[in-house]
Amino acid sequence: MYFDLKPKENAEDLFDYREELQILNRYIKDKLTRMIVIKGPRRVGKTSIIKTCLKENKIKNIFIDARLLSAPTRKEFDLALINGLKGMSIFSELIDKIEEVELGVKISLSKETNLIKLIENKEFVLVVDEAQYLIGSGVDLLLAYLYDHTKIKIILSGSQIGLLDRFIGQKISSAALFGRPFAEIKLQRFNREKSLQFLKEGFKQVQKKIDEKNLEEAVNMLDGSIGWLTAYGYYSLNYQHKTAIEKTKEYGLALVKKEYEEFLSPRRISEKFYNSIMQNLLLKEMRWSQLKRALEISSGVSLTDMQFNRYLKNLLDYGFIEEKEGQYFIPDPLIIALFTNMG
Ligand SMILES: Nc1ncnc2c1ncn2[C@@H]1O[C@H](COP(=O)(O)OP(=O)(O)OP(=O)(O)O)[C@@H](O)[C@H]1O
Ligand SMILES: [Mg+2]
Repeated sequence: MYFDLKPKENAEDLFDYREELQILNRYIKDKLTRMIVIKGPRRVGKTSIIKTCLKENKIKNIFIDARLLSAPTRKEFDLALINGLKGMSIFSELIDKIEEVELGVKISLSKETNLIKLIENKEFVLVVDEAQYLIGSGVDLLLAYLYDHTKIKIILSGSQIGLLDRFIGQKISSAALFGRPFAEIKLQRFNREKSLQFLKEGFKQVQKKIDEKNLEEAVNMLDGSIGWLTAYGYYSLNYQHKTAIEKTKEYGLALVKKEYEEFLSPRRISEKFYNSIMQNLLLKEMRWSQLKRALEISSGVSLTDMQFNRYLKNLLDYGFIEEKEGQYFIPDPLIIALFTNMG
């Protein structure tokens, strides 16, 4: 069923993405591919496609969602890795040794090296979802080691694409993972036609008749984000169209609000500039110089190009805005709704 909020794990629950899934299946079986990077904006189905591929191919894996670690540190990552290892039957003979490592208050470097020794001849896939949370943690060093010296295949995924690029060190020659080739899969938002098809097929699965006009309205309001469309379908199972739209907006607003708060929390000092850029982009998409002028007028502060570029880059890196052919815009209808409510 498409209208389930959890990330999908079975191909029959995954709408479209046949081609992407096929490509991922190929990379995952290809011995020469050491690392796969799956990129895409928030809620386009990155986790779903990874989980489906792993399950369909019965691939031994450890799946670590960096967003769920109690802290984005190397230590927490190592503990999650050890827990993952313990859960894998091929490692049962190693559990005692691993236990020993875990009992130490700190996982010391030499013991950690031993941990690497224990796993380096094993074959499995290590997935790090939302890997960008681990920037600066040193996990990239561990991954570079695994890449170079083991048979462990690495999948990295993340929705804050600019940050994920930074984690992979694509443009930074001093970065741990720099220069290592990887296969890349990009997921995009759906166009209108695909969005409509998704809803139609989803309602057909649950044998619910829906007015075409309502579907059009849902697509107009939720525009291309499979996550929001899934939520609308999910709420429609129990509510009338209007309530389902309201519930989806409520659900989505709570999520994007939390995400924006998380973004602002270390940037309070520049909050008014970020808010102001977002407010200006509510009105229309804008070119760089137009947006800079609008920001200066609305904030009453004159900014250097460097300052302004930093604000733009941060918003782009976190996916709150996007740029296409020189025009900056807000890509997500619920981010638009958030700032409309705030204004
Ligand atoms: N191809 C698909 N078919 C059906 N439902 C999907 C599909 N892709 C994603 N979904 C649904 O959309 C929502 C978001 O999916 P998922 O969590 O996989 O995306 P994501 O890109 O990993 O999101 P996030 O950026 O939050 O990590 C979930 O409710 C999921 O069930
Ligand atoms: Mg995800």
